[in-house]
Amino acid sequence: EKIYIGVDLGGTSVKVGICDEQGSLLQTYEGPTGVEDGPAAVLDRIAQYVKQIVSDSAYQWEQVAGVGAGIAGFLDIATGTVLFAPNLRWENVAVKQELETRLQLPVAIDNDANVAALGEAWSGAGAGLQHIVAFTLGTGVGGGIIIDGRIYQGFRGMAGELGHIKVVPDLEAIQCGCGQLGCVETVSSATGIVRMAKDAVQRGEATSLSLNESISAKDVFDAAKDGDEVAVRIVKRAAYYLGKAMAAVAVVLNPQRFVIGGGVSRAGDILFNEIRKVYAQNVPDVFTQGVDIVPAKLGNDAGIVGAAGLNLK
Ligand code: BGC
Ligand code: NA
Ligand code: ZN
Repeated sequence: EKIYIGVDLGGTSVKVGICDEQGSLLQTYEGPTGVEDGPAAVLDRIAQYVKQIVSDSAYQWEQVAGVGAGIAGFLDIATGTVLFAPNLRWENVAVKQELETRLQLPVAIDNDANVAALGEAWSGAGAGLQHIVAFTLGTGVGGGIIIDGRIYQGFRGMAGELGHIKVVPDLEAIQCGCGQLGCVETVSSATGIVRMAKDAVQRGEATSLSLNESISAKDVFDAAKDGDEVAVRIVKRAAYYLGKAMAAVAVVLNPQRFVIGGGVSRAGDILFNEIRKVYAQNVPDVFTQGVDIVPAKLGNDAGIVGAAGLNLK
């Protein structure tokens, strides 16, 4: 029996998991990233965590089919290089090669949101479907495209950067971390929601939100559920631009299901109802038939599960 190891490399912690061939997560391990120590130390730590989780398990090292890692940022899949990962402050790090040297196992890397999409397609909200598109709404907005059950990589592996679809009109647009103006990430991420809330408070709008406590995206959703009109407007704006971005994706790829995950997706109906409405208003009718928009199922585990799935042949 083969096992598959998935690594979710985040800015603060590294999550590692063991999956079986069906994508069931059998065991997890978490340790600090220690990003301040630089790439070599982080790679050492990842290798150490992988060895640790296997030795803590009932499995033998020989049963490990491969290690996959999901990383937020722009990657070159063919060479297994992180081209640019702002959270980690990494540029041109040969992750695949470095980890293969340390582990003597096949290593595959991919974008964090791509692997989350793969995880959802394998054993989550998209299980059994061949064509899904997943969005993760967190610090940034990530995207992943699954076509015929596989991640669509594009030329270098940067396909599916759906957070950088430009949907906000120039006059209202602000600059995105990618350098462009008006990306959906600037409004539909947790960061965007918090920024809009702070701006509203600073403008003196009538809202229960206040700058005394540092506002989180969850505070905005809670206020919206309590009927705070400013908060409702912000949530609707986040949903509006995401719905627009999804409509643009739909006419290009015609996915059967959109899976929405990440912390922001926990806002629930208030967000989803609006996304569904805006999506339907922005596509020709036939693109709503047989197509649905659902919350992700694997939650925080989507990244490790999908990363494990990178080595499934
Ligand atoms: C990055 C993506 C990443 C997403 C979610 C975006 O800002 O460009 O590579 O997948 O954030 O972490
Ligand atoms: Na992606
Ligand atoms: Zn952008």
